[in-house]
Amino acid sequence: MPEAATDGIRNGAAFDEAELLSEDALREVQLTRLRASLQHVYTHVPFYRDSFDRAGVRPEDCRSLGDLARFPFTVKDDLRAQYPFGMFAVPREQVRRIHASSGTTGRPTVVGYTERDLSHWADVVARSLRAAGARPGHMVHIAYGYGLFTGGLGAHYGAERLGCTVVPASGGMTSRQVQIIQDFRPEVIMVTPSYMLTLLDEFERQGIDPRTTSLKVGVFGAEPWTQAMRREIEERFAIDAVDIYGLSEVMGPGVAQECVETKDGLHLWEDHFFPEVVDPLTGEVLPDGEHGELVLTSLTKEAMPVIRYRTRDLTRLLPGTARPAFRRMEKITGRSDDMIILRGVNLFPAQIEEIVLRTPGVAPHFQLRLTREGRMDHLTVRAEARPDAGPEARAAAAGLIARGVKDGIGVSVAVEIVDPETLERSVGKIKRIVDARPRDTA
Ligand code: DLL
Repeated sequence: MPEAATDGIRNGAAFDEAELLSEDALREVQLTRLRASLQHVYTHVPFYRDSFDRAGVRPEDCRSLGDLARFPFTVKDDLRAQYPFGMFAVPREQVRRIHASSGTTGRPTVVGYTERDLSHWADVVARSLRAAGARPGHMVHIAYGYGLFTGGLGAHYGAERLGCTVVPASGGMTSRQVQIIQDFRPEVIMVTPSYMLTLLDEFERQGIDPRTTSLKVGVFGAEPWTQAMRREIEERFAIDAVDIYGLSEVMGPGVAQECVETKDGLHLWEDHFFPEVVDPLTGEVLPDGEHGELVLTSLTKEAMPVIRYRTRDLTRLLPGTARPAFRRMEKITGRSDDMIILRGVNLFPAQIEEIVLRTPGVAPHFQLRLTREGRMDHLTVRAEARPDAGPEARAAAAGLIARGVKDGIGVSVAVEIVDPETLERSVGKIKRIVDARPRDTA
């Protein structure tokens, strides 16, 4: 951390006004904005009008923040069904930008932003970057993909808004990224954690010690990553690694951000996004502190507000720390759709990541392969050997991983230690699970 950055946080000079709100004042702002958002969608989006009518609620029924629970959820399929522009709450001419998430199946989800939405987005990303330790004048290397994905452009305008020098590297062309980092000397990098590991390999391949770069802070998100991965990246690059969260349906990166001085979960920017955590099965709102699915309602969006959007991301809400006004969400342990149910046991890729990363002799690269024999599902953890790991070290690593999974998660898996540099590397979001089960039964 540059010293000036830590000082800025300590003396409070870096905070914007909303970050200094009292909890009561924040709740008031939220209620006013929530009521306006409900009214806005009810008036301008037929989908919401129908769904509120079916549930028998009107915007004016929302008299307290707790009343939001009376309103229906919105799910990804609702957005898909309105493809491309059916969820827009303003005339298309007022939409300044469109993004879309590719989606692995079916139609993409399209999102739109007015000029004011784009400005709010830049504000929350600027706030996030500042919480991460970036300061005006810093250089920010952005290796999130540019294009329809919200990562690149979302990060870009936020970094500019903060007053940084932006290097819009986008994803890919890894050897050139390394050269640019060496030559331009950025303090901050924004990239998926898995692509950061790809960059790590490339630094080493070029004979450069990654601990000697100019980088001080990495702002990592767009996919789940564990505390073990944080330690790996921080140690190998000699940087601070912090978590940034967001999703295109709600805005993009910058919905929540971890503060560098505490690294204790992500502060949700609650003046723009209202969080709830619900039981994923019953939809019942859970009290703060309990684990469940994050549900988000936008409070200031004009072009495409979302009401009670089911993110499928699993976390829990915790009280604010470094930014007392804003609650934190715990680092995301997984998405409900990434959960593998193996012989009745629920398992997330992040749990395997913790185990692989603490195992000597293996690199932080792994893949999960699901197969079926007869009626039984099998999971093979394929992890990559470190270059210096001989046959004995590899066998020991395989044993440690298998035992770690059995003891920690309670299910037997096969482990295959593969040669260095054989697993596919990420250039953006990594795909951990390879489902090789027969299609009709998977
Ligand atoms: O991934 C937006 C983003 C870009 C966030 C860059 C952070 C940095 P989508 O492509 O719509 O948007 O994917 C959203 O990615 O619902 C989570 O499942 C996952 N995700 C995003 N950030 C994190 C994170 C962008 N910090 C989906 N930790 C979300 C865990 C994350 N998962």
